[in-house]
Amino acid sequence: MAKQKIIIAIDGYSACGKSTLAKALAKKLNYHFIDSGAMYRAITLYFLREGVSLGDEQAIGQALDHVKLSFENNQRTGDSEILLNGENVARAIRDMLVAEKVSEVAAIKAVRQAAVAQQQLMGKRRGIVMDGRDIGTVVFPDAELKIFMTADPAIRVKRRFEEQYEKDPAITIEEIKANLELRDYIDSNREESPLRKAKDAIVLDNSSLTRAEQLDKVLAWVKELQQPATA
Ligand code: DC
Repeated sequence: MAKQKIIIAIDGYSACGKSTLAKALAKKLNYHFIDSGAMYRAITLYFLREGVSLGDEQAIGQALDHVKLSFENNQRTGDSEILLNGENVARAIRDMLVAEKVSEVAAIKAVRQAAVAQQQLMGKRRGIVMDGRDIGTVVFPDAELKIFMTADPAIRVKRRFEEQYEKDPAITIEEIKANLELRDYIDSNREESPLRKAKDAIVLDNSSLTRAEQLDKVLAWVKELQQPATA
């Protein structure tokens, strides 16, 4: 009998390795991976390009009407990449300019409503792994498996620095540290669906786990969930 497809929600602070785990899980389980942060980043990129003022509710509403987000699979890498109005912006959304503004944009109620509605629609097909900040609490409160990821702050800074340095060798550790601290603060303290651990989420601290170890751990949880209940 085919295994029941579930929804896996992964939340946590910036640069904890959520997307890395989500991607690997989706590949292994043959599920869809949805990076909800990429959606907030693409909206931010659109706002930056169009010069939308973050204090202007009307302009934000109008801009959101013109933002169409979708995902496509990169034929070479197999990665799911985000399209903004048909343009692949997978690289552009990783720019520091976007990282600097995204938490502010993601705190806007109208932005969240638009993103969450689309995420919930994507969840209808099940068999998905979605990572973000409010996936287990707001987007899929009934997800079968909820994971809250944490990692030592110094390790998170180091990981994000190494990733960003490849694209921009002028970047400094201090800039990365300041950006992560600010984003953690805004994401955890905003009024609209702040980052919280869902009551029924399992905490996964990957400070001292390899990618393979954390994947094995979570696959074991999935297996346990899919085990038929014994009378
Ligand atoms: O996961 P990420 O770093 O790419 O996310 C970028 C920003 O988007 C993050 O600072 C907070 C916001 N975000 C959010 O508010 N809710 C989500 N579900 C995902 C991301």
